[in-house]
Amino acid sequence: MIEKDLRNIESVKKVFIKTYGCQMNEYDSEKMIEILASKNYLITKNPTEADLIILNTCSIREKAENKVFSELGRLRKIKSINPNLKIGVGGCVAQQRGSSILKRSRNVDFVFGTDNLFELPGILKKISSDQKICKTDRHLRQKVRNFIPDNALRKTNNFGIKSFIAITKGCNNNCSFCVVPNTRGGEVSREPENIITEAKNLISAGTKEICLLGQNVNSYNANNINFVELLKNLDSLKDLERLRFISPHPKDFKKDLANAFVELRTLCEHMHLPLQAGSNRILKKMRRFYTIETFFEKVNLLRDRLPDATLSTDLIVGFPGETDEEFEMTLEAVKKIRFDSIYSFKYSPRPKTPAAKYPEQIPEEIRSQRLKLLLEAQEKIVQEKNNALVGTNQEILIEKKNAIKGRMVSGRSRGNHLVTIDNCENEVGELIQVKITEIHKNSIKAEPMSRFKL
Ligand code: SAH
Ligand code: SF4
Ligand code: F3S
Repeated sequence: MIEKDLRNIESVKKVFIKTYGCQMNEYDSEKMIEILASKNYLITKNPTEADLIILNTCSIREKAENKVFSELGRLRKIKSINPNLKIGVGGCVAQQRGSSILKRSRNVDFVFGTDNLFELPGILKKISSDQKICKTDRHLRQKVRNFIPDNALRKTNNFGIKSFIAITKGCNNNCSFCVVPNTRGGEVSREPENIITEAKNLISAGTKEICLLGQNVNSYNANNINFVELLKNLDSLKDLERLRFISPHPKDFKKDLANAFVELRTLCEHMHLPLQAGSNRILKKMRRFYTIETFFEKVNLLRDRLPDATLSTDLIVGFPGETDEEFEMTLEAVKKIRFDSIYSFKYSPRPKTPAAKYPEQIPEEIRSQRLKLLLEAQEKIVQEKNNALVGTNQEILIEKKNAIKGRMVSGRSRGNHLVTIDNCENEVGELIQVKITEIHKNSIKAEPMSRFKL
């Protein structure tokens, strides 16, 4: 028995995973951890003690892609100290660049694409000092299927009170600037039963909040179940407290989804609705399939029902051909809609996308200047909106206990504001009612409601 235990300890290996990019990549990394755990790998936060290092990469903008190659450069040193170390590159850069990564970075032992996670154990068995592997073939040709075999659904216990669940993969929209349809393929919806089973497993392991993931979640459709019906099914699960999703596409945001925000107990009153630009000419060149006027209508669909719902968005500045006036239209739209937060990016030309070939690429200085102006306008709006929160009551899901400050906790409101609460007796995973008391530049403070009672 003791001998067997020792053999088990010896066979335990350590894996370090670095994740770049969006929530879908975070989700995929969680899956990798589970797959590798079943093969005796433990996660480590220290790359120098790892037997295996995986970079789960993003290629949405050039900067994200460059980061991967600089990291591979840094890893060269670790590999020279530990020649047994295996290095793998997965995710969107891997899918797009394939075996050229093996040629460019000789320290890389294997490359695997966005559909090849479940092949990791096989790949690891095959690689050796003189055999490198590249697997980027697509398995998801059907429109509906399971992304995760039923027997691999969240067996290990490494997830928290907030969990992601992928419901669609890939994208059919082909926005002219975007690399995702190339890196993730065409849209595939996941079997609803498979999603519900994953949700139930997560909830019974302690998850309170589920965030559904997809490039265009609201075009979900599988076995005659559409997105709103899927939300209804999840909403009825016992012990689930909160449900969110990211990202819906404005063209598919309709009345039924707006109504769901009112009707469904768990669906939080916050939506991320990516606008991208305020000019109709640019939106058309981007292939976004809506106008600024219809976008305003969509915002009103939600706000007519829930005036206090929070909204966030994505914006791109300096898309090819964008004039000063057209950029002003983005600024105007932001000032008119008054988003609670924005994620704004300088346009970055991506390989194999139509916009990369458009003439009139905008110089870097102008893109930077526009981004600065946009961020300044938004900062003012955020300060004003945050100040208006003072005195309001909010429900917070506690996510973190601050180790240094003892009883200080932090968590998110249903509207997705990050809030810190001093002297709080409650534990991570609990929901509490608070009153917002102070706004600082980078934080929102609150007191538990129980303290206001006599
Ligand atoms: N599927 C989501 C977007 C995923 S990518 C949607 O349609 O909303 C996240 C964001 O990155 C996009 O919304 C866009 O604002 C930004 N983005 C994508 N490609 C980009 C590029 N080439 N340059 C700059 N920003 C880009
Ligand atoms: Fe990219 Fe457009 Fe699809 Fe979003 S909807 S992933 S921006 S192609
Ligand atoms: Fe990046 Fe791929 Fe996500 S390109 S943003 S990791 S889908």
